[in-house]
Amino acid sequence: MTNHQQALSYDELLRKTTSNRSNPMASIDILKVTKLPPFLTEELGQRYTMHELDTLSDSSVLVRVQAMVGGGDGRFNAELFDRCPNAKVVSCFGVGYDGVDTAAAVARGIVVGHTPDVLNDEVADLGLGLMLSVARQIPQADQYVRSGRWAQAPFPLQRKLTGARLGIVGMGRIGKAVAQRAQAFQMQIAYTARSRKADLPYDFVPAVEDLAARSDFLLVITPGGEGTRGLISAEVLKALGPKGFLINIARGSVVDQGALLDALKNQTIAGAGLDVFDAEPRIDPAFFTLPNVVLTPHMASATYETRRAMADRLLDNLAAGLSRQRMPSAVPECQPLEQGR
Ligand code: 8YV
Repeated sequence: MTNHQQALSYDELLRKTTSNRSNPMASIDILKVTKLPPFLTEELGQRYTMHELDTLSDSSVLVRVQAMVGGGDGRFNAELFDRCPNAKVVSCFGVGYDGVDTAAAVARGIVVGHTPDVLNDEVADLGLGLMLSVARQIPQADQYVRSGRWAQAPFPLQRKLTGARLGIVGMGRIGKAVAQRAQAFQMQIAYTARSRKADLPYDFVPAVEDLAARSDFLLVITPGGEGTRGLISAEVLKALGPKGFLINIARGSVVDQGALLDALKNQTIAGAGLDVFDAEPRIDPAFFTLPNVVLTPHMASATYETRRAMADRLLDNLAAGLSRQRMPSAVPECQPLEQGR
């Protein structure tokens, strides 16, 4: 099979649903608040009457909107909810929903859904990929070979991942999937979280600074939002030290980005592997010239298989919420609204 044929069959995998406008949901107005993958936008447009907030020419349609969709890091706030008084659902494309004012949603009886579980493997895989990439400098080594420098001198020696000390910030579903993989690399695993997980064999370290001080790799996979803003501070980076690497597969907001750039420039940490940033996708160009970072474009969940599974969960949450059924994955804050459904 050629690459082109393979790409086509993957495209078919994404576009597996062929619903049409004769369906009963077609008269339901929904609002796309932030970017979604084109295949899902197309599918939503086939199932519902879809409006896009960014290109809305007639704001009077907002009163008809029954549901909102978009990435969970979007802007689902009280003001928007008030402009859509008949909305009863927010269905997020992603596990994180830091962009949703859940208190405002609950106060208006709006149920919020997200897509947990289906992306655990993918996000954890990228976490391991970034650790390997920064430790062994795989992207830099690729450039080294392509530029012909290999013939002049061997590539410099790199750091060993197997057996290294890993500190995981956030031991939820994805943190656990990272730890499982890290065990295969015989890493010494410790974590911080809101509380100790009695069922886990790893060391619990309550303070993130202490965790950083005892880690070669500090991997961040905690929810975004105000509760974790700037958690990885200048002090935490100092504790990680000149031999330590930071991996962020959570949200840019969890790291004090100014402090991180300083630490990378001054090599007070060894390096970083980053999938998420402040102000994505127009990230601070200061990152581009740093030799000790590996950068990926918020792609941790971005495989055909997982994006399809996330889309299915978004569609199922949406359909359930619209028909006032219990959602497959309502966010915990909305569980009280789900009682009795
Ligand atoms: C997605 C994510 O990349 O699940 C999340 O919280 O950040 C990612 O899986 C994002 O939601 C797509 O816009």
